Amino acid sequence: MSSYAETYRNWQADPEGFWRDAAGEIDWFTPVDKVREMRDGGLADWFAGASCNTCWNALDRHVEAGHGDRLALIYDSAMMGKVKKFTYAELTDKVATFAGVLKSKGVGKGDRVIVYMPMVPQAAVAMLACARLGAIHSVVFGGFAAKELATRIDDAKPKLIVSASCGLEPGRVIAYKPLLDRAIEMASHKPEACIVFQREMEEASLVEGRDFDWKAEMDEAAAAGNKPDCVALDATDPLYVLYTSGTTGKPKGVVRDNGGHMVALKWTMKNIYGVDPGDVFWAASDVGWVVGHSYIVYAPLLHGATTILFEGKPVGTPDAGTFWRVIADHGVKALFTAPTAFRAIKKEDPKGEFIGKYDLSSLDTLFLAGERADPDTIQWAERMLNVPVIDHWWQTETGWPIAANPVGLEKLPVKYGSPSVAMPGYEIHVVDEANKQVSPNTTGAIVVKLPLPPGCLPTLWENDDGFREAYLVDYPGYYKTADAGYLDEDGYLFVMSRTDDIINVAGHRLSTGGMEEVLAELPDVAECAVIGIADATKGQVPVGFLVLNSGVDRPAGDIEKEAVAIIRDRIGAVASFKKAMVVQRLPKTRSGKVLRGTMRKIADGQDWAMPATIDDPAILDEIATVLGDAGLK
Ligand code: COA
Ligand code: AMP
Repeated sequence: MSSYAETYRNWQADPEGFWRDAAGEIDWFTPVDKVREMRDGGLADWFAGASCNTCWNALDRHVEAGHGDRLALIYDSAMMGKVKKFTYAELTDKVATFAGVLKSKGVGKGDRVIVYMPMVPQAAVAMLACARLGAIHSVVFGGFAAKELATRIDDAKPKLIVSASCGLEPGRVIAYKPLLDRAIEMASHKPEACIVFQREMEEASLVEGRDFDWKAEMDEAAAAGNKPDCVALDATDPLYVLYTSGTTGKPKGVVRDNGGHMVALKWTMKNIYGVDPGDVFWAASDVGWVVGHSYIVYAPLLHGATTILFEGKPVGTPDAGTFWRVIADHGVKALFTAPTAFRAIKKEDPKGEFIGKYDLSSLDTLFLAGERADPDTIQWAERMLNVPVIDHWWQTETGWPIAANPVGLEKLPVKYGSPSVAMPGYEIHVVDEANKQVSPNTTGAIVVKLPLPPGCLPTLWENDDGFREAYLVDYPGYYKTADAGYLDEDGYLFVMSRTDDIINVAGHRLSTGGMEEVLAELPDVAECAVIGIADATKGQVPVGFLVLNSGVDRPAGDIEKEAVAIIRDRIGAVASFKKAMVVQRLPKTRSGKVLRGTMRKIADGQDWAMPATIDDPAILDEIATVLGDAGLK
């Protein structure tokens, strides 16, 4: 095994050769000839001209190689106290059968299918069945409200939607079907059909002629032997579209291709995560997020590993020992989750008393991503688990880590607060506003030299202009990550904050601009600002500041409650928007820009300087008083 430095140098010296070698790990129907084809704007198409199928590589090929009896997926529901295991042969059969169902409803190559499901294995089956047919799935996180789903329906224009009767949150059953019906009603685009998986806790009523029952359809396809083979797709054909928060209420449809995505993810399993085929890998995330796409579904299966699909929370389902129970029960070798999950566990069980009750000897490494991993949390996890704790940094857009400590290649020294170093494929720079590289330990915008490696987004769904605008125009020749931070003298990266309005709430990426758009709909609100303030468990939580129209004389408390309710209704509970405050005015620059950054610093008790361009300094005192009165300062 070569070292990190040698591997990175090999990639730098010959990127095409590097990825050609990695592509050797994938089955191609038409073999790879051209590895990289440059296109306008410094971007690359990967493996154009080669054909392949992601479902084949994730499932069928392992069965064909004689590993049909190996466990592919373990569904562990802490919510239901239930475990169900699927071998590669069983999962392949289920996926082929559901592909038969989709095909019988007219779904084929290039059609979009929205998957709006809780954490049940049927969600992974639906994704892989789309991949089998060349249909493009778009998974929408179950915690999003009907309006968010409607926005995605109108952008992706799905032929069909796959959903379930309900999801389970601690202490309550969330009926999905009414949300789905409401979203379809709101959207201009109407899907031709919906397939609904009925769960025992809640039976959904089906719309005659439009909605079909998952189980009945599966039984029919199985009886008819309707199990289509994997379709040959161009490496550059889209596998999925995943919507992520941008700077407005309109989410961005991140496109993922088939060939480059497989090559990159397969490479990461051994080299970054140190996992072998047959090992048990657990990404405790949700299939609605990129971590779920890459590391619950695709990467572990492409690698022939066993993946865990967990329905539950790190605490309260039933206690702060759930993660340790899952590791012990299933022999998990690597766990990947968000720091917020560990903060939640640490809060409930600071001394780690639950840990001693379980045999965690299978666990080699803990990986953290999704938000900045604070040194306290990392050190607590190291002490409690006695394994390396690896912070790594990536985005929905890249689909796999940009910076990591690649334990599979070589475990580098850990520097607390840093996700370590650039992975092969990525040349990371920190630049100033003029796109000039800054010196080590100087904060600036974090950018990645083009072209991006395989697996990263080639564009946004039906929005090439939006793609260029969001990522390419500000720093010519580079991809803008919209994160800010610095590189130290050893090339370790420190990711400190976003440069846009995105906040990270319990590892969930949300746009404060999107929340402001919703609050502005309230009839009494003249203007508003939403900022993310520090939260001990969730990292950040949003709070809203509302300036009312003149003449409004209703109690401020009523309007604040309406603000909380409208965000929950339009965006969803996942926004964790629990606090809105009526203020007399917002602090602004003389050119009218709201000083959100300064407001955040005041709320977080950080040092702040009076901006030279401020219009009226007294307003910041008013904001500080309001925050203090609300117990938020
Ligand atoms: N469907 C419906 N509602 C959902 C939902 C879903 N899939 N997921 C979350 N919600 C709801 C929750 O019930 C909660 O509602 P409430 O305000 O009525 O209590 C709200 O959305 C906020 O949820 P969440 O942020 O998950 O907060 P929590 O207090 O329930 O749990 C954590 C906090 C830290 C334990 C939890 O967020 C967690 O485990 N985070 C890890 C995040 C993660 O894996 N991120 C992926 C990147 S790796
Ligand atoms: P998402 O697209 O939901 O994965 O969110 C990506 C964003 O989360 C990044 O742009 C960062 O702002 C943040 N993020 C993810 N991982 C890390 C990390 N390890 N350290 C700091 N920030 C992170």
